[in-house]
Parts: sequence; structure tokens; C-alpha cells
Amino acid sequence: MIRVLVLGAAAGGGLPQWNCNCEICRRAREGDPAALASDQASIAVSADGEHWFLINASPDLRHQINATRELHPRGGLRHSPIAGVVLTNGDVDAIAGLLTMRERSPFTIYGHERVLNVLRENSIFNVLDPALVGRVALPVEEALSLMLPDGEDSGLEVVAFPVPGKVPLYLEDGARKDYGSSAGDALGLHIRNRRNGAHFFYVAACAEVTPDLAERLRGAPLVFFDGTLWSDDEMIRAGLSQKSGKRMGHISMSGDSGSIAAFRDLGVHRKVFLHINNSNPALLADSTERRSLERAGWEVPSDGSEFKL
Ligand code: MLT
Ligand code: MN
Ligand code: ZN
Repeated sequence: MIRVLVLGAAAGGGLPQWNCNCEICRRAREGDPAALASDQASIAVSADGEHWFLINASPDLRHQINATRELHPRGGLRHSPIAGVVLTNGDVDAIAGLLTMRERSPFTIYGHERVLNVLRENSIFNVLDPALVGRVALPVEEALSLMLPDGEDSGLEVVAFPVPGKVPLYLEDGARKDYGSSAGDALGLHIRNRRNGAHFFYVAACAEVTPDLAERLRGAPLVFFDGTLWSDDEMIRAGLSQKSGKRMGHISMSGDSGSIAAFRDLGVHRKVFLHINNSNPALLADSTERRSLERAGWEVPSDGSEFKL
């Protein structure tokens, strides 16, 4: 078995975003049932329903934990069922929630060496006492067992693999063509229960579905995939930003080179968008874009939804 809880489906900023007055954020703020508020992207994964691993620690983590019974303390004055956090990149929306996890509980942070470097270079993360909070470098293309704080094997293993992406915004080097990005800045994860073979993929930040990535995902039972934008220029057209999706390191849902087209013949059983930006009309339950992705077999999860494998 694997249980997956969606803690948040929205991209950086969430829905609504604190300073955004776009139609979608406004509708979410007004409580429109077709524009449900959504936290920043993260999931929780467990092989036994007792011990949980977060995939990324979003800035909304405190709210996400409080809203999720499975993640509440059980037994003892201080306790958390969260055994670890696997980081797929160093973006603010993936790491800021680590600061919520202070107060001296043991857990392990797994991340690519590039991301662990970000934590090392930003001394505020030293609030997570290394005596309690270990940091383990995620190898690529190599299975790593996720461990419980008492040293027991959780039964889950993860294979991280580089996907097309970009260095975090706050580390961009404007003088370089790729902004100083390097393999490891964006990771996909293949997560598997070693005891029974249940498995799924998490690729919530990805600039392109390369032939290699397509082959890796072919026939998968479940894939969480980058749903940042509906169309590459939607933020520019809406007057929200000067940046295209490609410039931000994110593929779009629609179009010939979009994710919906790229997955069409891959035979992925459940295709779930995650990290959906508040500019993306597919967030609206009553939009033509939502109908169109659902016709193509995709899902937009609401926060709190559960997937069982
Ligand atoms: C992204 O997904 O591109 C980043 O989260 C953007 C940001 O850091 O605001
Ligand atoms: Mn993001
Ligand atoms: Zn907005």
C-alpha cells in the first residue's frame, strides 16, 4: 500500500495569493465554490498510514498539518508522525515550510546536494538542530530507502531523477543563458513501497517532457505532474508578469508541446496536475479548460484529497 495525501495543489503564492487581484484569486477570496482556495504544492506519503514523508515543505505547512489528521501529534507530549521531508528543488515554495518544523522534533531532510547547499548557505535553516534533523543527499538514478527517526526502514524507497528545469528564482544568474541552472535543480521522484511494489511518480516542476521522461512514466499507475500554467503566455496576457512559462522553467498544460499532448499515448493510469498557478483557468471547476483536461483524463485535486495505491 501507499497512501498519498495532497496537502496543497497550488503553485507558489497559493490560491488566493496575498497580493493578487486576478479574477481567479478574487473568486477564491469571495468563497466561490468553483474557485476553492488551495495551499502551495506538497504531498504526504506513507506506506503504513502511521509514518509520513512530506514531498516538499511549502510555506503553508503549518496550516496543512493542522488540516490533516494523519499529521497530528500522537502519543507523548511532543510528537510528529512526519519522519522526513524529500525536497525536489530549492524554490521558496518547496523549502520555506522547513522553518515551521522547528521546536526540536527528529526527522530527516532528503535533497539533492544543490538544494542541501542552499540550506547550508542560509543560516536561518540552522534552527533545525543537526543533532535531531539529519540532512541526507539524494543520489540520482539510485534507490534510497527513507528511514524513520528511530533508524527503522519506512518501507518506502525513492529514486530521484533530474528533469528539465531551472535554478531557484532567487539564485538566478542573469549573466548566463540558463540562469546558472544545473542538473539536480529540478528533480522528479519515483516513490515505491518495497514490500508490495506499489509506486507512483512526483514531477511537479518540469519544463519539458523529453523522450526519456516519457518512457520513464509510460504505463505508470499514478503521476503528479507540473500544472503551473494552461498556456505559456497566460501571465503576460493577464498583465500579471513579464515572464512566460518557459522562462520560469514550467511546461504548459495546453498546446502541441504541452503536458496534455505529451501524455496522450503514455498509458498513465491516473494523471494529476499539481503546482497549479493562480493564473491558470484550469483551477476553476467551471472553466472550459478544466473540462478539456478532464476529457483528456487528467485530474485537478482539491487540497486534502487522498490517493491509494
Ligand atoms: C516556480 O515554481 O517557478 C517558483 O516557485 C517561482 C517562485 O519562486 O516564486
Ligand atoms: Mn513554484
Ligand atoms: Zn491571482
